[in-house]
Amino acid sequence: VCFDKGETFLPKIDNKYQNLCYIVDENVWRLYKDGCLKHLQARDVFVLPISEEKKCLKTVFELYDHMMKMSAKRNMVMVSVGGGIVQDITGFAASTLYRGIKWVFIPTTYLAQADSCIGSKTSLNYDGFKNIIGSFYPPDEIFVDPGFLKTQKDIDFYSGLGEVVKLHMIGGEGRVSEFKGLLQGILAKNDESLLTSIKNSLYIKKSYIEADEFDVGLRNMLNFGHCFGHALETTSNFELPHGQAVILGMILANIVSRQRGMLSREVESHFFTNLLQPSIAVDLKGKFIDADQIIPAMKNDKKRTGKGLALILMGDDYKMKKVDDLEFAEAILALKRSTEILNIKG
Ligand SMILES: NC(=O)c1ccc[n+]([C@@H]2O[C@H](COP(=O)([O-])OP(=O)(O)OC[C@H]3O[C@@H](n4cnc5c(N)ncnc54)[C@H](O)[C@@H]3O)[C@@H](O)[C@H]2O)c1
Ligand SMILES: [Zn+2]
Repeated sequence: VCFDKGETFLPKIDNKYQNLCYIVDENVWRLYKDGCLKHLQARDVFVLPISEEKKCLKTVFELYDHMMKMSAKRNMVMVSVGGGIVQDITGFAASTLYRGIKWVFIPTTYLAQADSCIGSKTSLNYDGFKNIIGSFYPPDEIFVDPGFLKTQKDIDFYSGLGEVVKLHMIGGEGRVSEFKGLLQGILAKNDESLLTSIKNSLYIKKSYIEADEFDVGLRNMLNFGHCFGHALETTSNFELPHGQAVILGMILANIVSRQRGMLSREVESHFFTNLLQPSIAVDLKGKFIDADQIIPAMKNDKKRTGKGLALILMGDDYKMKKVDDLEFAEAILALKRSTEILNIKG
């Protein structure tokens, strides 16, 4: 991953490759076509409208058509500018056209810069199911300029923040205290703080992926907060942004750890007060935490294998542990307690 200013790396990419096809997020195009993307105005840019509904095979077919019209040859290089949605669509198209062509990714959201740009996954939605079609196909080059984050909508920015907090938490004690120091700067979108948080997050994610070369399940730990998180996201009808649901999911997982005696009161409240609560941006109003809906959603989780519910827990020593025996009563108790500490009416 290369960190620099868009004004610097964009023209370089344009000169480096011959046969380029640009795919740009519609909002990014609108905001930057007279700025750092100015040199692309003369080109045939594929401007992509962004929504989860668009993250599907039909859009990929439109992209294939566009590329064939541009006389797609095997040496064509796709350059994609945008968030996770553009990343997933471009990555999938690049991995399948001619059984794989080069692609370059310029992430423009906090989530894409700090998390999704590495890990090699491409995913599409199908028939109402999220991310069920996909491939593993990393970009050949990634360029990150945190300057793009200045124009991000708060709700999207805070969704990215959720994954950034998660990565620092699973990065251990040193990263957690570093994050505490960065948080105010991140919220103020200070360039240095953003850059440090992005570099840390990618470093931590990479270490989990590399440590799991032999598939011992370490990569699963990246799903910390996602067990309750997915259920919350679904039952809110996706009103609750993914990363924010992950924050609530981590709060809930920590409550369970504490109930099981893995986490002391001090450490739990340290995480809550200094990291998790200050990273919550959405107005909760309690409507998102409804045990009657969340428990059935967790029961239906397609990744569930054991008898109980699966959950990733953290202990006082910052060690992560995956359990699959979470009982419904335990989960209900945790949901109840979370509404108390979040000071909202359940
Ligand atoms: N492939 C992976 O490994 C992976 C990992 C995590 C998430 N994802 C996927 O990523 C998607 C979410 O991605 P995301 O959070 O990056 O956002 P996004 O791509 O959904 O974009 C969110 C909104 O921000 C706009 N936008 C993007 N950059 C902007 C900028 N700089 N200024 C102003 N507006 C901007 C977009 O037009 C869109 O309206 C989901 O579909 C998720 O499934 C993929
Ligand atoms: Zn996530």
